[in-house]
Amino acid sequence: MEQSPIKLSRCYKTARVFPTDVNNHNTLFGGKLMAYIDDIASISASKHCRRSVVTASTDSVDFLFPIRPTDSVCLESFVTWTGKSSMEVFVKVITEDLKTGERKIAATSFLTFVALDENKKPVTVPHAIPETEEEKRLNETALHRAEMRRSRREGSKKFADYLTTTFPWE
Ligand SMILES: CC(C)(COP(=O)(O)OP(=O)(O)OC[C@H]1O[C@@H](n2cnc3c(N)ncnc32)[C@H](O)[C@@H]1OP(=O)(O)O)[C@@H](O)C(=O)NCCC(=O)NCCS
Repeated sequence: MEQSPIKLSRCYKTARVFPTDVNNHNTLFGGKLMAYIDDIASISASKHCRRSVVTASTDSVDFLFPIRPTDSVCLESFVTWTGKSSMEVFVKVITEDLKTGERKIAATSFLTFVALDENKKPVTVPHAIPETEEEKRLNETALHRAEMRRSRREGSKKFADYLTTTFPWE
């Protein structure tokens, strides 16, 4: 089976918080951060498998601290675990107060991407090999998260059966 070290999937991005990026509390708008997270995570997934990828799911995004215009926002992402065609990607968001240098974990998220072949069908990805302590810990705990997602997906499918697609005025 093809293998690839997790480190080859690592991506980093640092951004300023501009006036157009904030909410009415003058802190980074959550939707903006979620777009950054999906963006960087998709690059990690693509670097790991060198295929087209789609986001299959995003686990909860935990916003631990507000991100202010005086902070920089730094995102770090890497593949933590692989199934057959799926890849779990972890994203860590670190804020840095640009005056004091204080750094905090502001948010974390797990996402799952699926690699697709030329016919848009799921295709096998290289097995992810963890090396650092952080990578090993996230890799060892991933199977449990994947099982929870599988069960949640089944629930989401059943839930969708109850929902209507008609317009509210019909
Ligand atoms: C994700 C998608 C490609 C899966 O296709 P599928 O034909 O249902 O494929 P399967 O059921 O065989 O699943 C393929 C893999 O995806 C995983 N998967 C599928 N849905 C998942 C979900 N919601 N969360 C986590 N993993 C998921 C499966 O566990 C499986 O993993 P494995 O190959 O490692 O065992 C398909 O559901 C899809 O295209 N969804 C829309 C994706 C999209 O448009 N994303 C952008 C959102 S705007």
